[in-house]
Amino acid sequence: MPDLIKTKTAVVRLWLRVEQGAFLDKVLPELRRGDINGDLAEYLLRGMLDHKLELLWAAGLVYTRFNDLPPRLRALLLLSIFQLRYSQVPAPLIVSEAVNTVRELKLPHLTGVANAGLRKSQLRAEPNATDFVSRTAFLAVVTSLPEWILELLQQDYPTIDPLEMVAGYRASRRPWLRRVRQRYTLQQLEAETTAAGVELMQAPWNGLYYSPVNHTPAQVAAVKRGDMIVHDVSAAAAVELLAPTAGDRVLDCCAAPGGKLRQLLELQPQVSVTAVEKDSGRFRSLGRLLLNDERIELRQDDLLELQEEKYDCILLDVPCSGSGNYGKKPDSRYRHGSKELAELLPLQQALLSRAAGLLAVGGRLVYSTCSLFKAENEQQVAVFLREQPEFRLVGQKQDSLPWSAPGQVKFTPWEHHTGGAFAALLTR
Ligand SMILES: C[S@@+](CC[C@H](N)C(=O)[O-])C[C@H]1O[C@@H](n2cnc3c(N)ncnc32)[C@H](O)[C@@H]1O
Repeated sequence: MPDLIKTKTAVVRLWLRVEQGAFLDKVLPELRRGDINGDLAEYLLRGMLDHKLELLWAAGLVYTRFNDLPPRLRALLLLSIFQLRYSQVPAPLIVSEAVNTVRELKLPHLTGVANAGLRKSQLRAEPNATDFVSRTAFLAVVTSLPEWILELLQQDYPTIDPLEMVAGYRASRRPWLRRVRQRYTLQQLEAETTAAGVELMQAPWNGLYYSPVNHTPAQVAAVKRGDMIVHDVSAAAAVELLAPTAGDRVLDCCAAPGGKLRQLLELQPQVSVTAVEKDSGRFRSLGRLLLNDERIELRQDDLLELQEEKYDCILLDVPCSGSGNYGKKPDSRYRHGSKELAELLPLQQALLSRAAGLLAVGGRLVYSTCSLFKAENEQQVAVFLREQPEFRLVGQKQDSLPWSAPGQVKFTPWEHHTGGAFAALLTR
């Protein structure tokens, strides 16, 4: 029988780890141990991250010196405020559980602080635009998107309401599954899941992708057997656009952890691939995934220093802000600021320029990101094309992809309810 106080204590512990830089994805498995209610704990932790700026604002209405409180208590108060604002649990129960959790956290002298503060009705107040120094400051609290992100998104998508953006990010959490082994046809997998009472929704843009309705991927038998894997349908666009043909020499420039490489080999098994990854830890995990595949040459290398060789197809999936994934990874929006983005932009341009130098005449190069910021997407491609006039975008049409411009594909959470992703197809 899961223990509620232990569950909340675990959420507090992991919240503090994420605050110190741990990735949500990496810590979540710890909530599936011992007598913790894993589903509840994940819901609470995700909810706190999703609404972090709003919860901090509400906490500040009651606790004027919130930042002076011990970190464990701050985390527990945010958890309780999240419940007060978003759950059906009666308020007196939330307060008494909070007090018991404060004891469990070995802060018995602070039970009164939790008890008195959490009873205040201001904790459920709605933010009012006139109380903020700017409209962006107000929207940051309402959406829990940091101001610099809101400013960039509004600049890039002026016709989309920020509330619609946030609703899109939340909808983008829907997990997508792809068939990875050919043992069963899609019809067989569909029939199997239907018989097990799990409804699968097919992606409108890509018939190979399905999403379980009202079930988690772990509840799908094909996922347990390894016949389907979780892979966002938006992330598939880059490889679909590249569309390698039999016999192609392919370069995967930024290969780890290998999701797109795996997809590429399924799409076109008759290729030889050089997979390059700079980071040693990520390179090792790539090696484990692709062990003993004779079609692949794995290289732990810096793309910027790669020797001249020519490839028919190049996949350049650059490091980026990840702004397309703020829904699935709510911790990522607090991890970086505009300074980090400014540092990424010249690196992305340098990687594109280097990759382009390795493309054979008539070859195909896909530049891709999981970002929505135009500075990382359309603008990078435009700068590159100005500097390298022998390249051009290939405006080919595949109905299954959401084309945003000739040669460019873009998924946005508010339009497609998937992660955000961009891919551009170039040729020389
Ligand atoms: C967005 S991730 C790639 C994801 C991968 N394509 C997939 O689908 O699983 C970007 C990767 O580029 C790697 N990287 C960054 N700079 C690099 C460089 N100069 N040369 C090679 N790899 C680099 C990063 O370590 C990171 O693993």
